[in-house]
Amino acid sequence: MEQQQRQVRAIVRNIGQLVSVAQAPIAGASGPLQVLTNTAIIVDDEGNISWIGPDQDVDEQLASSEPQQVNIVDAYGCVITPGFVDSHTHLVFAGDRAEEFHLRRQGISYGELLRQGRGILTTMNATRNASSEVLLDLAVERLAAVRAHGTTTVEIKTGYGLNVEAEERCLRIINDLNSSPSLPHEHIRVVPTFLGAHSVPPEYRTQRAAYVDLVVEEMLPTFAEMARFCDVYCEREAFSVAECRRILTRAKELGYQLKVHADQLSPSGGSQLAAELGAVSADHLDYASDADLDAMRAAGVIATLLPGCSYTLRSPYPSARRLRDHGLTVALATDYNPGTSYSENMQMMLGLAMSAMGMSLEEALSAATINGARALALQDQIGSLEIGKRCELALWSIHDYHEIGYHFGTNLVQSILVL
Ligand code: NIG
Ligand code: FE
Repeated sequence: MEQQQRQVRAIVRNIGQLVSVAQAPIAGASGPLQVLTNTAIIVDDEGNISWIGPDQDVDEQLASSEPQQVNIVDAYGCVITPGFVDSHTHLVFAGDRAEEFHLRRQGISYGELLRQGRGILTTMNATRNASSEVLLDLAVERLAAVRAHGTTTVEIKTGYGLNVEAEERCLRIINDLNSSPSLPHEHIRVVPTFLGAHSVPPEYRTQRAAYVDLVVEEMLPTFAEMARFCDVYCEREAFSVAECRRILTRAKELGYQLKVHADQLSPSGGSQLAAELGAVSADHLDYASDADLDAMRAAGVIATLLPGCSYTLRSPYPSARRLRDHGLTVALATDYNPGTSYSENMQMMLGLAMSAMGMSLEEALSAATINGARALALQDQIGSLEIGKRCELALWSIHDYHEIGYHFGTNLVQSILVL
């Protein structure tokens, strides 16, 4: 009754298929998908879903609400899902790495390029040399493409500044993206992550301990208000377990939530560290052992898979089924970055997860929505379509959701809808 007295801001009518998880999935399962046909959604004046039901019942529902201007959206019988939650990107950067991409086609590995001081440091140079205006413009353009492919929430990491001034500049830009006037009305939620431990910058090449000191003593306290998460690149070519432990322990004391780039290029110990410190997610996991996965399961760490990296680096795709068999909750993300996954397209990630990682459509959709929300600790607000949650939708140009992942290489999302 109470909900009927609330003001109604918007109604989405004539939804052919509304596809979302029905409730919080049982740990380890990706949760039953709920598919409702000929449905409508009513959104209250705070942008929360207040009613979901048969389209024919909408008028009855509205009868008792106060008359006012209501935004009515007609879905024309198409599919609606929650907007994608892309929980892992690095999309604030300048320049590109096309040259390195093509060198790798000739057999030079990503690790080898990193050891030569290229890779992340190539992008660091371009980013340091770009003006803030250029960096913001590039990011705004990229966000438009992210949105156009159906994503309504995106996490963005720093990590191409690698000194106090440039990391701060990137963090400001990431925060500005949440309030940028140049963004169109249909807004995208941006979650900022500090990734100072992405690579040791050249000026600290022979004194890496001093760089870790800088991250711990200066960057972390300075940025605590500007970033929700702290991430580290725990890898032979990047930072050791001991260095990452020191950084993340301090970050946790300062109130950051934690993420780890773990076991991507070698068994780095990253996922064990994520479990030890109670990280929200450990991402990549190509080389994670059974014991690593069990430790993550016990600690409730979300396993994030980034199929765009296997695609770009031509490395074997980790098996989603294996993670699931270990009882893990699996999220999917793009890892949008110029080195290992230059893609804004979550639909592509779903397709790859289904064709190369052994996921079903239901698992992939859950991984890209509710489990992405879990990987950002936002599952109470977004990631599924339920009463009380935010109304942030992807409106598809298809009439049957089984086309997702099957009809590939094209954008099947017509628009996002944030009400
Ligand atoms: O997630 N591995 C570390 N970070 C990124 C790559 C960044 C880059 O190559 O620029 C990743 O794959
Ligand atoms: Fe990454």
